[in-house]
Amino acid sequence: MEFEVRTGRGSYPVYVERGALKKAADIIGKARKVFIVTDSGVPEKWVDMLKVQFRDAGLFVFPQGEASKNIQTWSAILSAMLGAGVTRSDTLVALGGGVAGDIGGFAAASYMRGIRFVNVPTTVLSQIDSGIGGKTAVDFGGVKNSVGAFWQPAAVIADPDVLSTLPRRQFSSGLAEAVKAGIIRDPQLFAIFEKDDFADHIEEIIRRSLLVKKAIVEEDELEAGSRKLLNFGHTLGHAYESLLGPDACLHGECVAMGMMAMLDSPELKARLAKILERLGLPAKCDADPEKVLDLVRKDKKAGRGRITAVLADAIGKAYLKDIKIEELRGRLAR
Ligand SMILES: NC(=O)c1ccc[n+]([C@@H]2O[C@H](COP(=O)([O-])OP(=O)(O)OC[C@H]3O[C@@H](n4cnc5c(N)ncnc54)[C@H](O)[C@@H]3O)[C@@H](O)[C@H]2O)c1
Ligand SMILES: [Zn+2]
Repeated sequence: MEFEVRTGRGSYPVYVERGALKKAADIIGKARKVFIVTDSGVPEKWVDMLKVQFRDAGLFVFPQGEASKNIQTWSAILSAMLGAGVTRSDTLVALGGGVAGDIGGFAAASYMRGIRFVNVPTTVLSQIDSGIGGKTAVDFGGVKNSVGAFWQPAAVIADPDVLSTLPRRQFSSGLAEAVKAGIIRDPQLFAIFEKDDFADHIEEIIRRSLLVKKAIVEEDELEAGSRKLLNFGHTLGHAYESLLGPDACLHGECVAMGMMAMLDSPELKARLAKILERLGLPAKCDADPEKVLDLVRKDKKAGRGRITAVLADAIGKAYLKDIKIEELRGRLAR
């Protein structure tokens, strides 16, 4: 399947197709000079599959994990690009999960004031969520994603076949974002997870999640309003992430617990809890509520003791509400 994401400056194609990685050069442009940014956890066979399609492709491999998403890695990528003689007309291709996409995208946004960027997401999370939307970043000063840029890709190539090597825990964690997309805007997507055979529908899950994100980022490219809906489960999720550390609790696992806390209806909570159990995702965080609240206060989105909370009273109908951070206390207790 192929669809276009419209942005303020044009649009870019997103391909969701088994076997797409093998043919990536047809989309990127065979004659182009490419510089591939990936991490040490992306299996070599996927890196080779991409690299062999180009003559003299540059390659930068950084150590896997969120700990690498920093200015030092970004700077090392830029040095390697300079060393390899990458010019303004070349293309940076990020191959990997959200970390490779975010840092590769930021390197593309900043190198020579911005070069062409193609994203080839290889985790569930990056295929259904971080791969589109144009947000690029590194973590800085102890704050996640605090330095970055909006930089739209020229194309996104999501090949569900590459998910075959992804560890199960990463797989489930990524699916939390798909459950989120269902709660925000797509009851049919949510319903897929309520059936036992959800794993047989991975392509449809990726496609539907991307369409939810596409609709929302097209409405609000620079996150002035409705794009905040995508933060459902993330206000608390990010706090859990900082508190527990990204290895103890993966992003999607933290979002799962964050989503549970933001639902009020007992019926919806029970439905979500059942899905999380099926996916092997946690539903409740045991972290100290006071520490969680402190972290929410410190979060860049928490001005003047208030935050824009994302709430949902019905599946597919999330909405924004300005609330006092103190109001989260009750949610953390239950
Ligand atoms: N830009 C956005 O809009 C946006 C949205 C959501 C999340 N994010 C960011 O995404 C990041 C998390 O992304 P992630 O969950 O993909 O983590 P990740 O990029 O760290 O990937 C998870 C692990 O899987 C490995 N891996 C990748 N592809 C693989 C494959 N096909 N087979 C086997 N192993 C593979 C990686 O090496 C890594 O160890 C966070 O930094 C988060 O801030 C960005
Ligand atoms: Zn997320």
